[in-house]
Formats: sequence, structure tokens, C-alpha cells
Amino acid sequence: MVDSFHLVSISDLSDADLAEIFEVAADLKARLRRNEVCTSLAGKTLAMIFEKPSLRTRVSFEVGMNQLGGRAIYLAPNEIGLGKREATRDVARVLSGYVDGIMARTFAHQTITDLASYSRVPVINGLSDWSHPCQALADVMTAREAFGADLKGRTWTFIGDGNNVARSLAILCGRLGITFRLAAPKGYELDDTFLTKARKAAPELKYELYEDPREASRGSDVLYTDTWISMGQEGEREERMKIFKSYQINSELLSLATPEAIVMHCLPAYRGLEITDDAMDGPHSRVFDEAENRMHLQKAVLLLLLQKPRRDPVPCAEGA
Ligand code: CP
Ligand code: NVA
Repeated sequence: MVDSFHLVSISDLSDADLAEIFEVAADLKARLRRNEVCTSLAGKTLAMIFEKPSLRTRVSFEVGMNQLGGRAIYLAPNEIGLGKREATRDVARVLSGYVDGIMARTFAHQTITDLASYSRVPVINGLSDWSHPCQALADVMTAREAFGADLKGRTWTFIGDGNNVARSLAILCGRLGITFRLAAPKGYELDDTFLTKARKAAPELKYELYEDPREASRGSDVLYTDTWISMGQEGEREERMKIFKSYQINSELLSLATPEAIVMHCLPAYRGLEITDDAMDGPHSRVFDEAENRMHLQKAVLLLLLQKPRRDPVPCAEGA
């Protein structure tokens, strides 16, 4: 059973927690392939709060709960009016009396830390403007399948915006001894506030910043990208389309990576912008394994967190 009560940030997880999550996720995936049923969460309910749209996060958590014998309740943005109709801390207190876990996708990261600070049941971050830890964990699970469990010394290159997904990946790579490269235009790098927190959470972090995506791709084991325009940034669309134009995973970047390099994207992808069809559908792509692994990985997280007894709330700091 993992030590952490919540999964708000990668930094909530100890090295032992990480090892356990990856092991349980791989086991659950193998068991599902053999049609073995695991219903350890029978009778348990997960509340899923969404302030933003979702395909993968919503469906993978809901199906994951069903497969584990429990159920999930989808709470749409307009339904509960988090922080508007009702204070976030009151929502956390009320839900703690009904459900066994809360998964939340929000704009402000503070909303997730507020939920965690007032909840008596585990809170799981399903993406905030600041981070996307479940995505990063599923991405590493996918890389482990490609390269083996020991990823130390590998090079993981993120092409594009130093955003929520990049932050969670940077810390996780730091924790696992993977060099994390970011190829980003000036002004879109990982910022100093984050890097200070990241170095605390992952003292061994090897972060390399490039402006040229070609230089960054050279010798990389993983080429990774995400949308240039994250949810909530739609107003910056025109400007971002110009600034990020050359930050695209394509056959040229792939030719500079190692011969066995894999291509990943957290999805949804804007084909022809941050990634070409060739790269996304070609032999190096692990994009759809990665999407599938969201479910296996999160089932492990649910299994390890939702069986914990309710506890009195503990203030939750903004981790990295
Ligand atoms: N990658 C990801 O979180 O996808 P959704 O936005 O569809 O949940
Ligand atoms: N950075 C993207 C990730 C989508 C899964 C966003 O926040 O919209």
C-alpha cells in the first residue's frame, strides 16, 4: 500500500510508491489480458469532478473503477459549480461523506490542493493548469514497456510548451534518473518557481533546455509532444500558432533520435501541427499504448489509494 494518501503531484510519491504503482499497473494489465477479474474495489465509489473537457481521463477512470468492481460518478462543470455555487472546501467535506475517492480536473491547481486539504478521502489530480501526474505515470509505464523497467540514463525530449504535462514529466524523469530535455521557444520554458520545487522533489533532476528542436532530438530515446494550446489558452491561439510553428515531431526529428526511439503524445493531438501523421501512425509511435496505459496505471492508483481508511483532513501544500 503506497504511503501517500493523495495523488496531487508526483512529489507526493516516494520511490517505493512509484515502484509499487508501476508493478501493480503492469500486473493489472496482464491480468486483464488473461480475462482475470479483480474486484477489490467492490462497493467503492469515485467522484469525478471536471471543469474541463476530457476523453481519456474520464473514460479510463470510469472504466477502471467498473473493472475493479466499483463505480464512478461524473460531475460536469456546470453541475456542481466548484467554488461558485459552493466553496471548494465544502464540496470536499460533503463528498468525503459519500464517496471513497475524488478525482478532479481543474483550471487552478489550488482548487485541487483545496479539495485535498479538506477531504477525508484520497484526492487524485486528473489535470490542472499546473500538472498532470497520472499522464506522466502512464507515459513512464509505456516507456518501461519499450525499454525495460530501468530507464536510468535514457533521454526524454519534450518538444513544445513547458506546460502541465511537461512539468509532471520533468519531475518523474528526475526521480527515475532520466535526462529531461525541453525544446521550447523563449518564454515558454519551465519557469524558475517550478524548477526550484522540482529540484527539491527530484534532487538528481537533469534538465536540459534547447531552443532548437533538432538539437534537442539528437540521441533521444523518447520524443514527446503535446498541444501548443492547452485548455484555457484558446485566447492565445493565433500567437501560439506562430510561435510554436517549428516545434513539431516529424520524420526529420525522428531521424535524429536513436534508432529505437519511441514517439509519444498525451493526446488529444492536433495532427499536422505539433505532430505529423507519419510520426503519430508510424512504427516508432507508442501513442495509443500510452492512451491505453492511462487506464491500467490509474487502476493501480485507485487500488492502492481507495482502500485507505478515511482520515481527518491534513493541509495539502502545492507540491511539484
Ligand atoms: N491526455 C488526456 O488527459 O486526455 P483527456 O484530456 O482526453 O482526458
Ligand atoms: N496540456 C494539455 C493536456 C491535455 C491532456 C492541456 O492542458 O490542455
